[in-house]
Amino acid sequence: MKALILAGGKGTRLRPITHSIAKQLVPVANRPVIEYGIEAIRASGITDFGIIVGDSAQEIKAALGDGSRWGATFTYIPQSEPLGLAHAVKTAHPFLDDSKFIMYLGDNLIKGGVAELVEDFQSGECDASILLTHVDNPSEFGVAELDGERVVRLEEKPKQPKSDLALVGVYLFNPSVFDAIETLKPSFRGEYEITDAIQTLLDWGKTVRYQIVTGWWKDTGTVEAILDANRLLLQDIERRISGEVSDSTIEGNCVIESGARVVGSTIRGPAIIGAGCVVENSYVGPFTSVDSGTRILGSEIEYSIVMQDCTIRDVPARLSTSLIGRGVIVDKSDGTPKTARLVLGDASSVTFA
Ligand code: TTP
Repeated sequence: MKALILAGGKGTRLRPITHSIAKQLVPVANRPVIEYGIEAIRASGITDFGIIVGDSAQEIKAALGDGSRWGATFTYIPQSEPLGLAHAVKTAHPFLDDSKFIMYLGDNLIKGGVAELVEDFQSGECDASILLTHVDNPSEFGVAELDGERVVRLEEKPKQPKSDLALVGVYLFNPSVFDAIETLKPSFRGEYEITDAIQTLLDWGKTVRYQIVTGWWKDTGTVEAILDANRLLLQDIERRISGEVSDSTIEGNCVIESGARVVGSTIRGPAIIGAGCVVENSYVGPFTSVDSGTRILGSEIEYSIVMQDCTIRDVPARLSTSLIGRGVIVDKSDGTPKTARLVLGDASSVTFA
């Protein structure tokens, strides 16, 4: 079996972060989100990966390489335009050929892995298999209607959902999906939808099975969701102090990477302080990931992601629920009180509480 990971797309909901970094590379617990998906698939035994790439192709290739880091082979497949998930699958047809495959959205996180799903699909006779999860707000998702072990119908954002089971960004197909995709027309949002392709398989009497996510699932397409994914991953970390700590309190499950220096500060876990970071006279609160080379000086931050090489210095308010890109400076000047000097790129967002 092969794997197809989708790492193209527009990432509009994550702007301005996605102006400068592919959303699949945004760090969650200090690792690019796509790496968790690669590892989950690799754990199922698959080694042959196709990776759909769009405008951020160079950056994705530079970050992931040829796959040897995971004992796998990566083939990068450029998608001409982000015309939808089904279009991405069609683009990958020459790579996938007549193999069965798992398709995985590169910005999705699933706790519990996909090994069982892959094994069942490999040994079974069905044409497609999908992963479902219970949600509180099914009207906002693609929802499955079930009959025993089979899926009978899929509905995109139904007003009156037939179940609370939403489709998760993991799908398994045999090559019959390519015939279904050929029949598709763009949806109201102008995309070739994979849910329409699966519905077509159902209309043709093909067998579509499902599994329900055992752990949790997150689509990290929005700031809120990324911070929540970070929280969920940090919940499981184990305490490890490899860096240098002096005159500080390190509470709970914290990782302080080697080369990091924590001085006169409180770190309240779960939290990660990356390699080469400096935290001085500061407070880092629960569910915060600080990536390598960042300096936090005389400041307080919690429930946030700070990427590499930032400086956060003498900030007069506690930073919270923030997603801070690479090389950002948040500083306090000695100038006139009650002024704020902002140098912000397009679509940045600043909130004073
Ligand atoms: P989405 O989050 O559905 O789409 P998007 O990346 O365009 O984001 P937004 O809605 O915020 O503009 O995409 C899910 C995953 O699939 C993500 O990793 C990007 C990838 N993708 C492709 O590779 N090709 C495509 O044509 C689309 C639509 C998405």
